[in-house]
Amino acid sequence: MDRAELEALQLDRLRATLRAAYEGVPHYHRAFHEAGVRPDDLGSLADLARFPFTTKADLRANYPFGMFAVPREQVARVHASSGTTGRPTVVGYTQADLDTWSEVMARSIRAAGGRPGDLVHVAYGYGLFTGGLGAHYGAERLGCTVVPVSGGMTERQVQLIVDFGPRVIMVTPSYFLAILDEMDRQGVDPRSTTLEVGIFGAEPWTDEMRRAVEERSGIRAVDIYGLSEVMGPGVSQESGETQDGLHVWEDHFLPEVVDPVTLEPVADGERGELVFTSLTKQAMPVVRYRTRDLTRLLPGTAYPAFRRMEKVTGRTDDMMIVRGVNVFPSQVEEQILAIEGLTPHYLCVLTRPGSLDELTVQVEAASTSYDAALGARLEERIKQRIGVTARVEVLAPHALERSLGKAKRISDQRPR
Ligand code: DLL
Repeated sequence: MDRAELEALQLDRLRATLRAAYEGVPHYHRAFHEAGVRPDDLGSLADLARFPFTTKADLRANYPFGMFAVPREQVARVHASSGTTGRPTVVGYTQADLDTWSEVMARSIRAAGGRPGDLVHVAYGYGLFTGGLGAHYGAERLGCTVVPVSGGMTERQVQLIVDFGPRVIMVTPSYFLAILDEMDRQGVDPRSTTLEVGIFGAEPWTDEMRRAVEERSGIRAVDIYGLSEVMGPGVSQESGETQDGLHVWEDHFLPEVVDPVTLEPVADGERGELVFTSLTKQAMPVVRYRTRDLTRLLPGTAYPAFRRMEKVTGRTDDMMIVRGVNVFPSQVEEQILAIEGLTPHYLCVLTRPGSLDELTVQVEAASTSYDAALGARLEERIKQRIGVTARVEVLAPHALERSLGKAKRISDQRPR
């Protein structure tokens, strides 16, 4: 499909989606009415900008099933994301939606370098989180042999990798690090395993982390992106051949990037907040859903019709403001990985001892007999490269809590 054909398909699907949302979901009916628009006002893709945004707060306000556009009986599955406070966000899928999801996930695994017949070790969590089941159905659809391990029991993860011989692993990058550490502990050389491809996502990770993981394990590390509200994993995927950002599967998900302050759409190539409209979802269509993820859209490479999104390295929610300077944990990660002897097991602690916020970076050393100057070196690098003053505490290996899924990178200890 070329770009013009794709855009014609998007316009058809977008019209149908807006109509289904307007007619089937009271929230959208009200929101469109308040914005003074009707589905028929969409003459071109650009007209989407006239329609209102949808936020996580809208989903919470309609908890649990109020955003469904079909009767609950037609919903084949629900997932939910816990969030840090309040009610979880619930999402629903018809059987046709599960089919679409399997399809885009199969496509994603193939794009990453997976092949029919591969053994795929799935260490994303199974359950209400979309990672495990999303990866599972996609790998089955592609024709792989799936090992549904889920997260946790790290010792056993290593045993299964050694005994079963998977070619592909699907897991959060931070939990993959924990698996590599466990291999070291068991005396298994990470470079000696059968693993060739890692499909890593669900949390931000930097190119520096990619290089470190690839070097240590000998696998190709490829980025996968998605969010429950839009589908789950498989909204966009990096090609294992070009490793240059994530192709958005635009026949199912229409991306926009908007200025996070004015909420006006920005041109391709400019950074801002990513917004998605679903094009084929039945149970829970989403219109202009604000992801809070920061990125920019770029032309396609490996799959020319589809635009790419740059690796997401931060969310608006994760932006720390330290003495007026904006800092994301991923920027700290970049600096940590530039210093030999430090590991990417880290936590940014925010405190407010007086009237100003302070940032302390806790980071584990690679060995117990670490150089006392490591902390000062990281402090200096953070000052020079990011422009903020942070205190660094170098900790012994394994001092920080390991997560089995998404890593926690910020501990906010400021008084409320
Ligand atoms: O994390 C879906 C997923 C599962 C994606 C497995 C990839 C692999 P949620 O729990 O709803 O869904 O969290 C979605 O996670 O808005 C981003 O902030 C973040 N995120 C997901 N993938 C990436 C990525 C799943 N590759 C939220 N890079 C999103 C950076 C990511 N952040």
